Amino acid sequence: MEKQTDIVKATATNANLKSYEEARRSFDWSEVEKEFSWHATGKVNMAYEAIDRHVEAGLGDKVALYYSDAAREEAVTYGQMKTNSDKFGNVLRKLGVQKGDRVFIFMPRSPELYYSLLGSIKIGAIVGPLFEAFMEQAVRDRLEDSQAVAIVTTPALLPRVPVADLPHLKHVILVGDDIQAGEGQLNFKEELAQASEQLDIEWVDREDGLILHYTSGSTGKPKGVVHVHNAMIQHYYTGKIVLDLKADDVYWCTADPGWVTGTSYGVFAPFLNGATNVIRGGRFSPQDWYNTIQRFKVTVWYSAPTAFRMLMGAGDDTVKEFDLSSLRHVLSVGEPLNPEVVRWGLKVYEQRIHDTWWMTETGGQLICNYPSMDIKPGSMGKPIPGTDAAIVDDNGNVLPPNRMGNLAIKTPWPSMMRKIWNNPSKYEEYFRLQGWYVSGDSAYMDEDGYFWFQGRVDDVINTAGERVGPFEVESKLVEHPAVAEAGVIGKPDPLRGEIIKAFISLRAGFEPSDELKADIAKFVKVGLSAHASPREIEFKDKLPKTRSGKIMRRVLKAWELGLPTGDLSTIED
Ligand code: WTA
Repeated sequence: MEKQTDIVKATATNANLKSYEEARRSFDWSEVEKEFSWHATGKVNMAYEAIDRHVEAGLGDKVALYYSDAAREEAVTYGQMKTNSDKFGNVLRKLGVQKGDRVFIFMPRSPELYYSLLGSIKIGAIVGPLFEAFMEQAVRDRLEDSQAVAIVTTPALLPRVPVADLPHLKHVILVGDDIQAGEGQLNFKEELAQASEQLDIEWVDREDGLILHYTSGSTGKPKGVVHVHNAMIQHYYTGKIVLDLKADDVYWCTADPGWVTGTSYGVFAPFLNGATNVIRGGRFSPQDWYNTIQRFKVTVWYSAPTAFRMLMGAGDDTVKEFDLSSLRHVLSVGEPLNPEVVRWGLKVYEQRIHDTWWMTETGGQLICNYPSMDIKPGSMGKPIPGTDAAIVDDNGNVLPPNRMGNLAIKTPWPSMMRKIWNNPSKYEEYFRLQGWYVSGDSAYMDEDGYFWFQGRVDDVINTAGERVGPFEVESKLVEHPAVAEAGVIGKPDPLRGEIIKAFISLRAGFEPSDELKADIAKFVKVGLSAHASPREIEFKDKLPKTRSGKIMRRVLKAWELGLPTGDLSTIED
């Protein structure tokens, strides 16, 4: 394995985590628990700890949220967050929504999204946030699987919610101006205006459901990963030592709440730490992004490799047009962070970009670079205090340094997922090796204990930080009238990490053409979602299949990369 020799020395002198080694030696999760009020009372609610607690401590006038997009700008205090989420909790209560019910939120970022999310949690409901880019099939799959009772959405997105086919979905709450609420629909604004500010918060058990994030695997439909209120211990602690949040920080996480990063680190971690949270709506643009940092004097910034690569592509001169001097800590998650990007960040932002590794299933950060620790560009860092990571073989034996294998985490940790909705056997697969959570990533650990990502063990595609299951895309593709069979792989791409490439064999009577490619790509985009649509399509007379009829994606990948196809003993013919 190639050795990375350059080291970026730690310069932070006042980081919350003074010494990584020291913290690992003395760490005890039960010490972190003492920070919470429920440690004394036994009464738990994530939204209470994130918002209400700060109001009770006299911080009601502090800005909790700076929201901005092209059309709107708003500052929301902790006090207003409390009131609005209390009111929304009462709206749901009046409708009869109860503890444990699933409430989905399907809308673009806005302050209302955060009131809905926190208000639902306050009454003990389990929140399912969805990307606004989802089309009908994606929305239907998730609402059906989870048997959601209510959805908060906008009139523009409502046509993608197949209400008539979802008997469990009793309540549709519409956000926006000039809402014409139809039968069985409510106007968010009107309901909030009438709702009482006094909410009897639902005190729940630490192990009660909090949030449901659907994510992709290599087979089957997306699976619903369930997290519980207990996760707050890890959200709070990693917010403190990894994000390094302090009381006067202005923090910006660029992720949408449809993705776990946008909730664990876009809602919970910053609010639990009492920071001011910046939320930017709208699309990516280098100017708007830099302007967000300049305008709100962002101090801590959490983003993703594809975004950093796009910013790099926008050039050093674009950076110089803005005053980014407020920045003091920059982090990344979601895909491998190229050493080149780290070096560029040092040059143009004069900041180390701190890579962090974790997954939807892990609920919180697990392997990270810390402000007080030296960085080896290209490495994900070291496991957070209180957890152990290792490289294990397929039987669960721990491998020595510099050997590639399965990246595994010793169980448990506070924010670990507690189940896969409706799918206990899927859940157990992750824990098939006694005492370990098997991530599905391959990696190695060097002799200094730094972890280096190598790839996915399965066929899951990571395009611009979004996890896409090839099966889901293939299933949609074969619904197209021209498609007989489809195999989907991730093709390496300098900007997006990977792009989705589909190999397709056509039904009799259809001829390959560029128009047909465009039509098929659009079919997925409209039916499923834009990020699941193949950027490249190649027609083949026949696809490689096992005798049992499974399309062999590894052969497609080998074709793509010009590599030997390996063992073909199971191939059809
Ligand atoms: C990948 C996002 C390399 C990895 C929080 C993992 C990474 C999957 C990194 C989880 C990183 C995440 N370096 N790869 N720092 N962080 N990944 O569930 O393959 O959307 O298994 O979670 O993203 O993706 P998910």
